[in-house]
Amino acid sequence: MSNQPNIAVVGAGVVGLTVAKLLQEQLNNCNITVIADKYNNETTSHVAAGIFRPGTSFKGPTDEITKRWIDRSWNYWDDILKTSEAPQLGVMSLSTYIFSKQNPHVTKNHLIEDLVPIYRAASEAELTLGPQGTKYGAFFSTLKVECESYLPYTANKIVEKGAKLVNGKVESFASLSNFDLVFNCAGMGAKYLCNDHDLVPIRGQVIKVRAPWVKMAFYGDYDTYIIPGMNGTVTLGGVRQYDSYNLDYCKHDAAAIRERCCELLPNLKTAEVVSNMVGLRPHRKPVRVEPEVINGLKVVHCYGHGGYGVMTAPGTAMDAVDIGVNFLRSNIRSKM
Ligand code: BEZ
Repeated sequence: MSNQPNIAVVGAGVVGLTVAKLLQEQLNNCNITVIADKYNNETTSHVAAGIFRPGTSFKGPTDEITKRWIDRSWNYWDDILKTSEAPQLGVMSLSTYIFSKQNPHVTKNHLIEDLVPIYRAASEAELTLGPQGTKYGAFFSTLKVECESYLPYTANKIVEKGAKLVNGKVESFASLSNFDLVFNCAGMGAKYLCNDHDLVPIRGQVIKVRAPWVKMAFYGDYDTYIIPGMNGTVTLGGVRQYDSYNLDYCKHDAAAIRERCCELLPNLKTAEVVSNMVGLRPHRKPVRVEPEVINGLKVVHCYGHGGYGVMTAPGTAMDAVDIGVNFLRSNIRSKM
């Protein structure tokens, strides 16, 4: 290994760019090249509302690792929130209600109940804020990361410190054989790169509306959510369509999302539509963060975060970078 290792990061979504940033902080003597065919608003990260609320089924290889990823991710975003750079990075705090007419479990979340500053059951009075018939509810304080700001900000920062951003689709690891280390943060692209049958798309569709009067996030039954952003735009969702590769906008999904969100928060009825977006969440159980030697090439995989990539990118990236740094220092070159 030369003094200046050449490292490729495949993918420029929230996971790829966070890996590149942490890597640069940890190894100041390295050449980092981010290679991706999609940047900024073309990425799946850009479609996600980015609220810190992992699904209770989010899973790493063990419960301990899952919790470590979540806790470290929260601390990473929360530290940014305390700085004056938070607005530029798209990080904001967000109070949230979650309501259900059907199931008390929907309002619980063992992964964050003891992590976020407030997580409590909603009072009887608060339940009346939900749609008619609401039986269960919780209030919690959390944060949100807007990739519209985070991705370009982070890309600029890493480029200022010497990283290169390259446009291109990586079709095989063989094409990266000139690198000393590769981070595979390709999201759904990892399915083809690794022939990974455990990686499945969960199609999502959201509507961005202009509703600057919405100051809190709301979750309801049937994957319904209303998540305000920084500039008066609110994300309305959603759908979760397992194993669907359809990237086309569906007017029926949009109508259902709008109807469910307006039931949850009727003052959205007049909100003007800014855009409709579709993304494929790269779902895998467990999320894959591990090393592999592929025909002599050292690869660290970091993909399969499903709909929770924005919130959990830092925790998983920290592990991926640690694995990568140790890997680089080891002299393994043969098939493991
Ligand atoms: C969502 O968080 O709803 C989402 C994430 C990625 C793609 C589509 C939707």
